[in-house]
Amino acid sequence: MEILVVKDEYEAGRAAAEAVIEALADSSSPVLGVATGSSPLSTYRHLAEAAAAGRFDPAPVRAFALDEYRGISPEHPESYHAVIRREVCERVGLLPEHVRVPPGSAEDPVSACAEYEAAMAAAGGVDVQILGIGSNGHIGFNEPGSSPESRTRVQRLTPQTRQDNARFFGGRVEDVPEECVTQGIGTILEARRIVLLAQGESKAGGLAAMVNGPVTPECPASILQRHPSVLVVADEAAASQLARRI
Ligand code: F6R
Repeated sequence: MEILVVKDEYEAGRAAAEAVIEALADSSSPVLGVATGSSPLSTYRHLAEAAAAGRFDPAPVRAFALDEYRGISPEHPESYHAVIRREVCERVGLLPEHVRVPPGSAEDPVSACAEYEAAMAAAGGVDVQILGIGSNGHIGFNEPGSSPESRTRVQRLTPQTRQDNARFFGGRVEDVPEECVTQGIGTILEARRIVLLAQGESKAGGLAAMVNGPVTPECPASILQRHPSVLVVADEAAASQLARRI
């Protein structure tokens, strides 16, 4: 695991975007794993700038999102369908028909999740996955206790995660959905390269547990210690509880 500590969100986005561009450069059929939430927004801005400067071609890139809420429509502005449409398609320039988001509204989630996994495999797997980390150590919406072998499935969000995400719903925790569909930890681990962003003091405990703690389902991100190609981009506040800077 390589850990890069940067001074602010701008630098975090720049470093992560450069890592993404490099990881996709050699692929004739590039596949990007995209996250939502606040952590990757600066990365998407830098990717958009690189595309405008002709250093990154979004046209051939296919993308798969990590997760989606259940119980809100894909048209809701805070659904991850909507966020990915805004931040990844409209901003960076990926073609909407190349981008998939987990089936949060599926009536038969079991078969829809299997179909999502099959589409990822048919695309050749993810070349580089962008991740954030929850304050409780979740990746995707794999909450503490999730199995390292888990695949795309329905999950309940913890009260902590709903509280953390209330800021996207006008501060009303009761409006944050209780369930989601998320790629599993086993799914995420199949990405060939992982770039994880952690910014702000609220991520310091989770990041320290991920990097320095035991590999345990209690901190789902800790399984990334076993992945062969992980870049962590953290700001000073998020890195403040790390045992050492590597
Ligand atoms: C988002 C996702 C989550 C977030 C995490 C951090 O698709 O899968 O794991 O990355 O909850 O969220 P932010 O970046 O908003 O702090």
